[in-house]
Amino acid sequence: MRHLLSIADLGRDDVERILETAGALQGVEDKLPTLQGKLVLSLFFESSTRTSSSFELAAKRLSADVMSLKAVGSSVDKGESLKDTVLTLAQYEPHAIVVRHPQIGAPQVVARHSGAAVVNAGDGKHQHPTQALLDLFTMREALGRLEGLHVAIVGDVLHSRVARSLIQALVLVGARTTLVGPPTLIPRGIEAMGCETASEIDAIAAADVVYVLRMQQERMESAYVPSLREYAARWGITPERVRPGQKVMHPGPINRGVEIDGRVADGPDSLILEQVRSGLAVRMAVLHDLLAPRLTLHETAAVA
Ligand code: CP
Repeated sequence: MRHLLSIADLGRDDVERILETAGALQGVEDKLPTLQGKLVLSLFFESSTRTSSSFELAAKRLSADVMSLKAVGSSVDKGESLKDTVLTLAQYEPHAIVVRHPQIGAPQVVARHSGAAVVNAGDGKHQHPTQALLDLFTMREALGRLEGLHVAIVGDVLHSRVARSLIQALVLVGARTTLVGPPTLIPRGIEAMGCETASEIDAIAAADVVYVLRMQQERMESAYVPSLREYAARWGITPERVRPGQKVMHPGPINRGVEIDGRVADGPDSLILEQVRSGLAVRMAVLHDLLAPRLTLHETAAVA
């Protein structure tokens, strides 16, 4: 793998390999020497808690040097373009660049203007491939399989890079996906990606996993639902709407009382914090795959 810009870059074998590596790395607390001498540059032009922190920790756990730049407080504030920012930082010869940017296609720009392996950590409403990989990893850990699993993705699909990446990833591993939400937030024709759609919340009843999306008000240019109160009443995930044993996931950050009731988020079937934990192992696996593909995990452990 040269870059990870989209789930479309991956075949099923790639997904299996990354999940297997993540499984081997999950819970390893010792620092591994795998990426000694490598420089990982983290470029976040949009806010992040989970993705930025887990990539930074993942790189450090693999002994890479890490350099982090956030748009706020950098020369981006003075109008420096993405191209000039990348050309400037490329002079430090990073081996990998992890980038989050509000513009679709920004990671491709970074790949064009540096020699580094580029990981898309979220570009606009387009893709967030490592989120989809960590979601698959979490589902498999919790339910023991991916093939044949039924996942209901609920809410604001229209503005969601998480949904686009996850639908592609679920198709790749042979899972079934149903998108559920107000018709204004389900893009027309999205069934062509290999999923079903429904507008009534009852459609989640048959799913093994209810995957709740955040209402992304910052990306909404107009009103897509009459009010958040009405959205919560019709599509919010409450204890009454899920059955015992039905797993609930959310990429975070969550809007308690809007798309998900706090009692569900904190309940026994919630995998939300497991997703955060999986993020570290999966991002270690992605960096490993990009920067040390020839070093097997067995060898990694042996030199540790
Ligand atoms: N899920 C996700 O991307 O979270 P952050 O925005 O906190 O990174």
